Amino acid sequence: MAAPPNPFEQQKPISGVKHVLAVSSGKGGVGKSTVASNVALALAKTGARVGLLDADIYGPSIPRMWGALNQKPELNEGRKLVPLARFGVKLMSIGFLIEEDTAVVWRGPMLFKAMDQFLRDVDWGELDFLLVDLPPGTGDVQLSLAQKVPLAGAIAVSTPQNVALTDVKKAIDMWTRVNVPVVGIVENMAWFNAPGGEKLQLFPKGSLDAYLKEKDIAKLGEVPFHPLVGMGGEAGIPVVETHPDSAESRAFIAIAESLRGRLQ
Ligand SMILES: Nc1ncnc2c1ncn2[C@@H]1O[C@H](COP(=O)(O)OP(=O)(O)O)[C@@H](O)[C@H]1O
Ligand SMILES: [Mg+2]
Repeated sequence: MAAPPNPFEQQKPISGVKHVLAVSSGKGGVGKSTVASNVALALAKTGARVGLLDADIYGPSIPRMWGALNQKPELNEGRKLVPLARFGVKLMSIGFLIEEDTAVVWRGPMLFKAMDQFLRDVDWGELDFLLVDLPPGTGDVQLSLAQKVPLAGAIAVSTPQNVALTDVKKAIDMWTRVNVPVVGIVENMAWFNAPGGEKLQLFPKGSLDAYLKEKDIAKLGEVPFHPLVGMGGEAGIPVVETHPDSAESRAFIAIAESLRGRLQ
């Protein structure tokens, strides 16, 4: 009897790209796109060559976060899409290819095709890191990425409370099943540095740390909540660019350094 087809046989590296990293979470709104954007920029500031692919087909937010709304990437002579360059990071988003208020209603096979195009029909050039900002959850987009390309690893983003952790556990379970190493967790909106110097816990602290210890998963960093972070996202310039010395930016930079240490 013939062996069942192995979907992971389609995996092919992207030539010129060293490390492809998935940025995922179980939940929406925990700050995946914010973390992906600021860590991408922080990596670029450490001298790495960085690309950021926005594969959140349900809610692409990279165009807005990088001041690139309504930009249309050009095709080069080899008929590949040319990523936009912002602050030294190469950007590509599903949002560049569809109108802002248009919903994407795609089934699995179309998603697989779209993912392939984003990985291979984009002129990424030489990159040390390609970060992929994923939609929340454990669905076709995540699986198609894992099947199309060997991933250096996945980063999961969580907020402190247990409702977020429950979903992060599912994301980690999914990566483990498809043999993608989990590089670590970023705890976002971990606290708020109040003007009086007090450290305010905006969300109740759940059992994230105990879970990470039990599973031997690294915590890559803790990013405080600060309105500047959200404002950067709205204004289209990530906070690491506008306020590099803020506590939040320093947290993003430390995460980038940790990633560089883990992935040579
Ligand atoms: N550390 C933070 N401090 C303040 N606001 C944040 C922080 N992280 C994310 N946000 C805000 O939270 C909202 C959701 O973040 P986003 O990155 O879009 O989440 P996701 O991609 O997981 O859906 C955005 O408005 C963003 O600006
Ligand atoms: Mg997002």
